[in-house]
Amino acid sequence: MEVSTDLSASRYNTVVDLASPGPDTGSIRPRARFDSGLPARSLNGTWRFHLAASLAGAPEGIEAEDFDDAAWADLPVPSNWNLHGHGRPAYTNVVFPFPLDPPHAPDANQIGDHRLDFDASPDFLAGALLRFDGIDSAGTVWLNGTLLGTTRGAKLPHEFDVTGVLRATANVLVVRVAQFCAASYLEDQDEWWLPGIFRDVTLLAHPEGAVRDVFVHAGYTADGQGALRVELDPPLPWARVTVAELGFAADLAAGGPAVNVGPVAPWSAESPRLYGLEITTAVQTVRLRVGFRTVTVAAGQLRLNGRPLLFQGVNRHEHHPDLGRAVPHERLVRELHLMKRHNINAIRTSHYPPHPDLLDLADELGFYLIDECDYESHGFEEAGWEGNPSADPAHRDALLDRMARTVERDKNHPSVLIWSLGNESGRGENLAAMAEWSRRRDPDRPIHYEGDWASTYVDVYSRMYPSPAEVELIGRRQEEPLADPAQDAHRRGLPFILCEYAHAMGNGPGGLRDYQDLFETYPRLQGGFVWEWIEHGIRRQTPDGVSYFAYGGDFGETVHDGNFVIDGLVSADLEPRPGLLDLKAVIAPVKLAVDEAWAVLEVRNAYTFADLSQLAFTWTVTGPGGVLGSGPVEVPATAAGERAAVGLPEEATALRAPERVLTVAAVLAGDQAWAPAGHEIAWCQQGSPAAPVPEVTGDAAPVLDGALVRLGPAAFSRATGELAEFRGLAIDGPRLNLWRAPTDNDMGKDWFNEGARDHEGWAASRLPLLHGRLVSMRDDGGALVVRVRYGVPVDRQHVDVTYTWLSDGDALSLRAHVLPSEGWGRTWARVGFDLRLPGALRDVSWTGFGPGPRYPDTGYAQRLGWFTADLDELQVPYVRPQENGLRAGVTALALRGPAGGLEFRGEDFGFTARPWSQAALAAANHTPDLVPDGFVHLTLDALVHGIGTASCGPGVLPRYRLAPQEAEFRVVIR
Ligand code: GAL
Repeated sequence: MEVSTDLSASRYNTVVDLASPGPDTGSIRPRARFDSGLPARSLNGTWRFHLAASLAGAPEGIEAEDFDDAAWADLPVPSNWNLHGHGRPAYTNVVFPFPLDPPHAPDANQIGDHRLDFDASPDFLAGALLRFDGIDSAGTVWLNGTLLGTTRGAKLPHEFDVTGVLRATANVLVVRVAQFCAASYLEDQDEWWLPGIFRDVTLLAHPEGAVRDVFVHAGYTADGQGALRVELDPPLPWARVTVAELGFAADLAAGGPAVNVGPVAPWSAESPRLYGLEITTAVQTVRLRVGFRTVTVAAGQLRLNGRPLLFQGVNRHEHHPDLGRAVPHERLVRELHLMKRHNINAIRTSHYPPHPDLLDLADELGFYLIDECDYESHGFEEAGWEGNPSADPAHRDALLDRMARTVERDKNHPSVLIWSLGNESGRGENLAAMAEWSRRRDPDRPIHYEGDWASTYVDVYSRMYPSPAEVELIGRRQEEPLADPAQDAHRRGLPFILCEYAHAMGNGPGGLRDYQDLFETYPRLQGGFVWEWIEHGIRRQTPDGVSYFAYGGDFGETVHDGNFVIDGLVSADLEPRPGLLDLKAVIAPVKLAVDEAWAVLEVRNAYTFADLSQLAFTWTVTGPGGVLGSGPVEVPATAAGERAAVGLPEEATALRAPERVLTVAAVLAGDQAWAPAGHEIAWCQQGSPAAPVPEVTGDAAPVLDGALVRLGPAAFSRATGELAEFRGLAIDGPRLNLWRAPTDNDMGKDWFNEGARDHEGWAASRLPLLHGRLVSMRDDGGALVVRVRYGVPVDRQHVDVTYTWLSDGDALSLRAHVLPSEGWGRTWARVGFDLRLPGALRDVSWTGFGPGPRYPDTGYAQRLGWFTADLDELQVPYVRPQENGLRAGVTALALRGPAGGLEFRGEDFGFTARPWSQAALAAANHTPDLVPDGFVHLTLDALVHGIGTASCGPGVLPRYRLAPQEAEFRVVIR
């Protein structure tokens, strides 16, 4: 008989079951987080830490109280250890960075050992719980040498009963954390892999008889009453429940029906009214804040307190450029204030429950949450979903446990309107079971899961990145039917949301307005959540100390997804990207318009609940020299959903004239927690800053001067036909430019256009390699007519440009006629003209849209007016450098330096000005790669291709595409 002995197992004795697909062991049943009125002590702080590259190399016996950790390092807790000099972060989107070998983790599995000595006061000796709010990924926990158990579910809380193990002094808490375990297969979210005890650790007094859990149901009835039901665990029928502000006090009836607490102010994101509720028992007074509100899905719509909602949301991951997912509280507050200031009313907590403080803040500040379970198994898609945990009975308990930890922790928060089962985890019975469990436990909240396109387990139909055309069909309830008629009828009856749309990667997202118009047209469409709120850049420094944001591949990862992790409306440092400003304008909850006579202001209140009394309205008229007048506009309170037309003050109307712009703004009338009085919510404009373009008569005639031809203040090269000099300034150009440094969206695959990638089309047409050949340069009756044929290597296709120059001796006018041959691809990036100017011309001023960038399908935040900027301020420092910073609708542009400058006037053109060339911009991978080359590179655009969101989703919509075409460009230079 053969005897087989497991020779490898023994050394793993200090990590429990890394390959178990089951849930944690040893923790107490999941429950809500609430103020128990009993002592609590944070164990956050400096812990001792040791990192091993694998379990085999991890020290033995660390759980022993007398283990010598003197040689270990210090590490802050909470933290992700690989952002504190231990190991390195790694980024993958869909794929696992290790073999798809479930339920096993690879041998190369970092083990982070953490130890803390602490004293607890006698307060905790009558009973205590030890809470971990988040350990990524697998924790094994010992206190004073006793194994308490394990944690699974990185972003979920685990609590251990330490009664009898805890001492008043000299406790030794030991946590061994494995970076990967079987649960990693359930935690394949699109983010950095960041192991560690990354959320708080807290000791909670929990004596005999203490309330274990509480579930408060606070509904709002159609006739404006609060309906309150409180469940205690263990049940304490004699506990006293009070809502002092309502004069409500009652002894809790066990399992009783909801009690009417009388008239209440309802909770909503617009008026986040909270009431303090206390539950008094013999042992403690539990304190909660309740918001009375009722969520329903009725008549095909998602409703709050009876009114259909519109989510103007974002997907939020937790990220900090230096600290990873251990986001400090002040940062979180800043993030949420920033969202409120940008009119955002909803957050999908992609793709896990956030730090619990977010829930408190969302209740308080007013956000609608889709609270998502910590579950994504996307990497199984690579294997055709074979072995997908959603469908594997071995993972059922773990998945139900995850759902329970999500729902139980957050169930008392009025901000949570919807539970989400997770993200991108295919389909399967376990998802159905999670939905069923949630519905039973919390019948008052609908269920969401995007991966269920047939909407079998869910109460809302949700999709990511469909085209506006498909969204419109869904809005009309005319989408493609499902094969099963019953299922189809069910889904067709559901409300629709876009759990992800408008992929905010790099320059963009394009097309926000197109989605918004649909949301505001079809009642079934209840808004969406932009992907995503924050870029996950990790701050690094070049050897000479220039800091920049790093992305996938920058840490030596062998498998990674590059800069796909940089796709947010704000930088990792919370600097708003232009896309955030656009979103704010597009989703503004007040719609304003002024007629051409500047006489009447039309206001539409697009809030769901609030009237306009919290806003003040102002008018301002500006001209080239600045503000000409301003004042208040009286707008009636106007109920939600209603319109008002009000006469503008005569003083404003009287200022109407050419070259003037009227702006009407709606601002906060009083201070809010998230912004001071005067903060702008919405605006509109009427009028135009444009001045007539001066006529240039051709008094001057071209004159030969050696290698140059002179015309008025300009000199042209006889070799290229291009300008060489203008009033003493050395100039190079104009030269036709049909390309741009590809944006992330240009490089993406348009989901709805046979996977076309604009960038590939442009590369195939060799747009970056345009060559000019001077065809002729003639004096045509005083006009200098320069014909240039622009071709590309290898191919025949070309563009003929005829530049006609006139001068009156002072100004110079250009008319450029662009005539393409046959044979170009589907689109061009632009029809523009490059000019290279002296590097000193850094002071830029223009008339048109500003102060920020605008492309055909972006720039909704930009206003008409007169602007100035330094050259550097015109750049948008996208983490992966790319085309950026186009100013549009321009009628006048001046670039000046200490020794003069020049000015361009036209009817409607675009410009970009940069201290580096377009080629350098295209070649750069990180911001420090961009180095000023001593020139100003100016491109004047006649036509520009849109931006779209093909980095994930639809490309540039047909009406924003630039097909190769004949074009004309005029400008006067002075
Ligand atoms: C979605 C996914 C997100 C993110 C996004 C692309 O498919 O749900 O987590 O990966 O694509 O940035």
